[in-house]
Amino acid sequence: MQLLHSVSELRARLAGEQSVAFVPTMGNLHEGHIELVRIARERGSCTKGTQSGNPQAGRGVVCVVVSIFVNPIQFGPNEDFDKYPRTLEADCAKLQGLADVVFAPAVEEMYPEKQSIFVEPPPISRELCGEFRPGHFQGVATVVLKLFNLVQPRVAVFGKKDYQQLSIIRQMVIQFNLPIEIVGAETARAADGLALSSRNQYLSDAERTESVMLSQTLRGMGAALQGGAAEYAALERGAGAALARRGWQVEYVSVRRQADLGVPEKGERKLVILAAARLGKTRLIDNLEVCL
Ligand code: PAF
Repeated sequence: MQLLHSVSELRARLAGEQSVAFVPTMGNLHEGHIELVRIARERGSCTKGTQSGNPQAGRGVVCVVVSIFVNPIQFGPNEDFDKYPRTLEADCAKLQGLADVVFAPAVEEMYPEKQSIFVEPPPISRELCGEFRPGHFQGVATVVLKLFNLVQPRVAVFGKKDYQQLSIIRQMVIQFNLPIEIVGAETARAADGLALSSRNQYLSDAERTESVMLSQTLRGMGAALQGGAAEYAALERGAGAALARRGWQVEYVSVRRQADLGVPEKGERKLVILAAARLGKTRLIDNLEVCL
């Protein structure tokens, strides 16, 4: 595995690679990220759009690239950019034998000049998380486009935990005609159901115990939808109020269409419930796909 810091080294290393599978991250890797890297190798080894059925097929042909970059332009002025955990050495140890290249550029390498051209994401980027993190998805889409241009992957893997991010990136890839297959990977969870996240380490012991309520709330709503509940707004209000009574500062709990995260019409069968709420100083997000 090679650790590269500069764009020129990266381009030289990847020149001539037939199939690059890419996992963009901000580092501080946990089991969820490692699973993305495993999926990248598997999907990168398959012929586009098909599973070969043979896990050894294409082994050695795919080049798995993981980027580790805490992207300043996706953090708001009062967010945790400065304190976001940076653990490059430990991250590289975890990637040994799984990734071929780790690209960990400095901020000046990714932004040699002040970025003045941005990807303008669709209006949905101002709803849900976007309502509470203005500019966040513009920063994400811009850095992901830059990383795609540098790495030129055939396949890129993103976690479904950041469901809105995944949805916006899928739209960007389609609308900018990028020849990249986007793979959404299931959310990795702790045994009690908490979605794995680098931010979980900010939780105190008591908050960690309480944090399980977020995924439980989503599961409760999912069961209600499966049971025929169709008053989405009432479900959202009930779930938000229940979390608030337990001390959560709820940003949103929302039932949306999977396809584009729009507000679903009655009778929509492919739904996703998304939520973001703070426990103390820690902001947690989670979601649950529900197919009726
Ligand atoms: O999901 C993340 O870790 C980041 O938003 C990403 C996609 C690496 C862009 O900085």
